[in-house]
Amino acid sequence: MPLFILGRHLFEGDLGMIKKTFAQGVALMMSALIACIPVGAQTATKLTTAKLTIHADQPVSKVSPTLYGLMTEEINYSYDGGLYAEMVRNRTFGGDWSGILHWVLLEYGSAQAKIGEDRATGPSKALGHSLKIEVSKADAENQAGVLNVGYWGMAVRPETTYKGSFFAKADSAEMGPVTVALVNNQSGKAEGKATVTGVGTEWKQFEFTLKTGALEASAQNHLELSVGHAGTLWLSLVSLFPPTYHDRPNGFRVDLMEKMAAMHPQFLRFPGGNYLEGNHISERFDWKKTIGPLVDRPTHMSPWGYRSTDGMGLLEFLEWCEDLKMRPLLAVYAGYSLSQEHVKPGPDLEPYVQDALDEIEYVTGGTDTKWGAERAKDGHPEPFKLTYVEIGNEDNFDHSGSYEGRYAQFYKAIKAKYPELQLIATMPLKGMKPDMVDDHYYVRAQEFFKDQTHYDKIDRNGPKIFVGEWATREGAPTPNFGAALGDAAWMTGLERNSDLVVMASYAPLLTNVNPGGLQWDTDLIGYDALRSYGSPSYYAQVMFGSYLGSETPATKLEGVDAVPDGGVPKFFYSVTRDAAKKKLYVKLVNASTTAQALEIELPGAKLAADGKLVALHAHSTQSTNTIDHPTQLVPAESVLHGVGEKISHTVPGLSIEVLVLEEK
Ligand code: AHR
Repeated sequence: MPLFILGRHLFEGDLGMIKKTFAQGVALMMSALIACIPVGAQTATKLTTAKLTIHADQPVSKVSPTLYGLMTEEINYSYDGGLYAEMVRNRTFGGDWSGILHWVLLEYGSAQAKIGEDRATGPSKALGHSLKIEVSKADAENQAGVLNVGYWGMAVRPETTYKGSFFAKADSAEMGPVTVALVNNQSGKAEGKATVTGVGTEWKQFEFTLKTGALEASAQNHLELSVGHAGTLWLSLVSLFPPTYHDRPNGFRVDLMEKMAAMHPQFLRFPGGNYLEGNHISERFDWKKTIGPLVDRPTHMSPWGYRSTDGMGLLEFLEWCEDLKMRPLLAVYAGYSLSQEHVKPGPDLEPYVQDALDEIEYVTGGTDTKWGAERAKDGHPEPFKLTYVEIGNEDNFDHSGSYEGRYAQFYKAIKAKYPELQLIATMPLKGMKPDMVDDHYYVRAQEFFKDQTHYDKIDRNGPKIFVGEWATREGAPTPNFGAALGDAAWMTGLERNSDLVVMASYAPLLTNVNPGGLQWDTDLIGYDALRSYGSPSYYAQVMFGSYLGSETPATKLEGVDAVPDGGVPKFFYSVTRDAAKKKLYVKLVNASTTAQALEIELPGAKLAADGKLVALHAHSTQSTNTIDHPTQLVPAESVLHGVGEKISHTVPGLSIEVLVLEEK
């Protein structure tokens, strides 16, 4: 949330403050001086043919196998109303001055009823309140109840089974059955219907399924629960799920999981971000309140202005990792919350340190440990493999300066019990060398063009780097092609320096594009209840993540137009080689509107005559994808003919390309 520079957290416009180090690639790019033909975009090719020499047999650095991953938190309705497939909004009936949010009284025909929050009764200690429906008049044909509007509607698809449940009790067993229906907003037609019997005077959970027939998929639907008898009915935890990814109960949206899978992410940083910290200590991500049955999760207020269901709890994050074969990068709460509340290092901090130790045990412990047994009880006896633990988030914003002490206390306790874990600090420390430091960048494309050499000259004896949040912030709700160019340029620098930068994750990852869904512009993937799309930046990530080698070979670029002092380079490249697969990946980014002719020389390389070209190209930096036009910009694949020791290739203006070359 903070929008100013402090410590290593860099925001747009601030990189001018950084001493630039134009090294290696860019220095070479400056060596040619011939100007380009001064005509419009895509019509001209620069007079100079640049030369890229690649010594495939001369590795110069290792590429981290974990370089690209995902960063996530509850922001922009990322989980509730997003990845977490729950269709019912405000399923535990929270309210404000205006009443119970997202629920509406339902009175069919002559039925009469009123609804309100009842703070005196609920199905569990965690959910000690409920919805009270007082029905004064109703019969089988004239039912009364409530409807839920969903997260900007509910996606209903043809021939699909939806699984639902709710907790209920009534003032008498005479209440009779509860009718549940998925109803189309426009036609009023019930597209799936079930009758639930057995509601008595004690709280009990009921399950139901709704099956749809032939229909046109739409998000314009809602859920109704109604009764045909006078009396009082209490409801809580009303839930409805569509089929989920890998059929997980309490699981994830299939389309979003598939989009993330296509990025080949190697790790998941969770649960935030500001979401880890909360605005107040009492609103931190308190992991113990996010595990076990949903009815035992009290929900909590997130710093992004809405309440989290905590349906996405610690175990769900881990299962998300499991499903996409990502390593968990667990961020533990470290005693600082956003409104400048902090816990003093020393005895006051001990309970929080213990919480982190318990959390690590929940993730990694055998079933013979207290928290490992708890995880088994929650349905996952198998421990998860954990390598990275981040201590806090953006602690440079803690004006008290307490982070040094807090980090040291967590470090000592965690290392004592788990010496193999790599511990990440959220800012550089004066008193000790952390295993890794998390750097964040939110900038404009021009800043990334200028700063893509940032890590070229960073001391290799210092801590390893995790670029835990970064993005070119141009375009809303999702980045446009200009942003994708900034991102791609930045990623060439990450790959070149991946001996140092071992992990990097774009942020934020997800946004619900409905009005009110967005708290932060430029999010990688957009969606509504029914549809989703990848931004141009998303496709840049897919391209970079899909084609990443294990080493960088020696390379040299000559003949690209010189950049005057203070000017901004516009051509970038990265070459990585997968030693096991014997493949070379040449990434080329042309942020200029003019095409760049290139001779690629690979002395001594024996390559298959046909390679592959994956290209993402636009006619304007403002070109983008939207929820209604989701595939205006997608990478195109073609055969790259004439591959040999010399390849003549022209990179069109405004292009991001990957050349896949196979060694014979
Ligand atoms: O990504 C959005 C926010 O930016 C994160 O929550 C926070 O860590 C950073 O300030």
